[in-house]
Amino acid sequence: MYKIAVIPGDGTGPEVVEEGLKVLKHAARLHGFEYTTAVFDFGGARYLKTGKTVDEKDIDVLRGFDAIFLGAIGHPDVKPGILEQGILLKLRFALDQYINLRPVKLYNAAFCPLKDKKEEDIDFVVVRENSEGLYKGMGEFRNKATAEEVAIQVSYNTRKGVERCLRYAFEYTRKRNKRKALTLCGKTNVLTYAFDLWQRTFDELAIEYSDITTDYAHVDATTMWFVKNPEWFDVIVTDNMFGDIITDLGAMIQGGMGIAAGGNINPEGVSMFEPIGGSAPKYTGKKVINPLAAICAMGMLLETLGEDNAAQDIERAVITVVKTKLTSLAAGKMGYNTTEVGDLVVAHLGKK
Ligand code: IPM
Ligand code: MN
Repeated sequence: MYKIAVIPGDGTGPEVVEEGLKVLKHAARLHGFEYTTAVFDFGGARYLKTGKTVDEKDIDVLRGFDAIFLGAIGHPDVKPGILEQGILLKLRFALDQYINLRPVKLYNAAFCPLKDKKEEDIDFVVVRENSEGLYKGMGEFRNKATAEEVAIQVSYNTRKGVERCLRYAFEYTRKRNKRKALTLCGKTNVLTYAFDLWQRTFDELAIEYSDITTDYAHVDATTMWFVKNPEWFDVIVTDNMFGDIITDLGAMIQGGMGIAAGGNINPEGVSMFEPIGGSAPKYTGKKVINPLAAICAMGMLLETLGEDNAAQDIERAVITVVKTKLTSLAAGKMGYNTTEVGDLVVAHLGKK
């Protein structure tokens, strides 16, 4: 019996979460597992009412679950940073979800903005460090609001933090068993402290993982190759900030935010799965948002719980729907509404 915490959150979050839970219900029936859910109202609406984001007690409660399913956090009436830091990043850090796993896979070449790219050309995974780097929030103002102002923002990288992320990436590349190629993405030519540590640790681990081919790419070149030669990549490992940036580009080349899912993973603890697209306030309540990213996030959640058959079934159903039903992956242009897309996935579950 799996215990799944559900955080629908803001904007279109609740709409896509509903479809993810619908798919979960049918996957459980077909693949013979049981679960319970508990819904948490963390988000902008609750913050505006109560001033509360997420506190230590909430975190402790979440520790008792097997996984967390998150819709979206972000509210147009709340100043940028409050909900992000108070809820999303708080959960990632407090639960030590030190990996942000973001698969980039093209399910239908017709939805790819790149010319002449086939489905097999875009199939890689970004392993983003999720607990350190620039996201650590270290820094200060000096002489704030004067002509002499200095704003300092530090990228904080520990040997332990870097090593556990890299080790996860090596293990993941081995388990994925595709091209067995791992690329470190960094900026060793400028960030000569942070990425020196990353590169040294990477090279040390590469000796241990002699079955994995390794290479290195600067982050700027990486963005160029995502557009020009995405087929070069199998698994990419990078720091928090670069991982944030390149996975939005990754989402676009796989067909857009409507299909991009990610997992905030603590391999030894409670992981949290989310569509990476955000709360999309302008589409809220219109039932036009694409729920497939949330449905794919549910697939990742089930894979992490060890329900591999259910996870594969969900992916297979999503691929069929994307290849044979939808006219676009973009909100309002799918040829179906949010609920109908969820229903289509359910209808294709359990088929070969
Ligand atoms: C993401 C988001 C978050 C991040 C924001 C909302 C804090 O952009 O999940 O990629 O920067 O990690
Ligand atoms: Mn982002």
